[in-house]
Amino acid sequence: MNKYIVANLKMNMTALEVNNYLKVINDKVDSNNVIICPTSIYVPYFLKQNYKVGLQNVFYESKGAYTGEISPLQASSMGIRYVLIGHSERRIHFEESDLVINKKIREALDNHLKVIICIGETEEEKDMLKTDRVLRNQIGYALKNVDKIDYKNIMFAYEPVWSIGTGNIPTIRDITTTICYIRKILLNHYEWPNPLILYGGSVNEKNISALNEIDVLNGFLIGGASNNPERFLEIIERVLNGR
Ligand code: PGA
Repeated sequence: MNKYIVANLKMNMTALEVNNYLKVINDKVDSNNVIICPTSIYVPYFLKQNYKVGLQNVFYESKGAYTGEISPLQASSMGIRYVLIGHSERRIHFEESDLVINKKIREALDNHLKVIICIGETEEEKDMLKTDRVLRNQIGYALKNVDKIDYKNIMFAYEPVWSIGTGNIPTIRDITTTICYIRKILLNHYEWPNPLILYGGSVNEKNISALNEIDVLNGFLIGGASNNPERFLEIIERVLNGR
């Protein structure tokens, strides 16, 4: 199966560190299935390489008086092809609601960006056995008024909030069960037979081989480990070349 590897560099690295990072990865990464999402101001340094570039966030209007925001139209015009929308850090620290997330998704799709929709339950929700309901609701809001024709431009990233940056990951069995549940919702409620679904949350060079065995997954969204170029390259090697 064609697998995707998405790096979420978050708000990390200085310009000098970005320079060093690029020196390591640019010669070695050669795949349209690797998508790197740097801090926005560094995006131009990442463009025109043999991988794809994504934003970590985007606004829901195409232009105007929205100080500090970046529009999907602007992103497209720069050659950016992907955007993460609905990351739990945006939901939590910036109070992004499902409604706002849906507006961002639609505006991004209208401007020819491919959207990686992040979904996942908190620890509290997991403990209350609400995971299925939370995922169902997040998917429902995300896809509201999204045209079926755009499904080909959407990927999902299942990221349990309690797993992000913590070193705790669900068992292989739990990930498999949850991904199958997401597939079932998309098939039964949206007539969507083969959605692309990634897993994210504490993926690293040590656990990647085991995670890569999960055959219902289409790839991984990686935060911390993707910030280190050597660790990131090792993950890419294992996923794309199965080593
Ligand atoms: P992590 O982050 O790999 O550091 O857990 C994943 C993410 O936030 O997308």
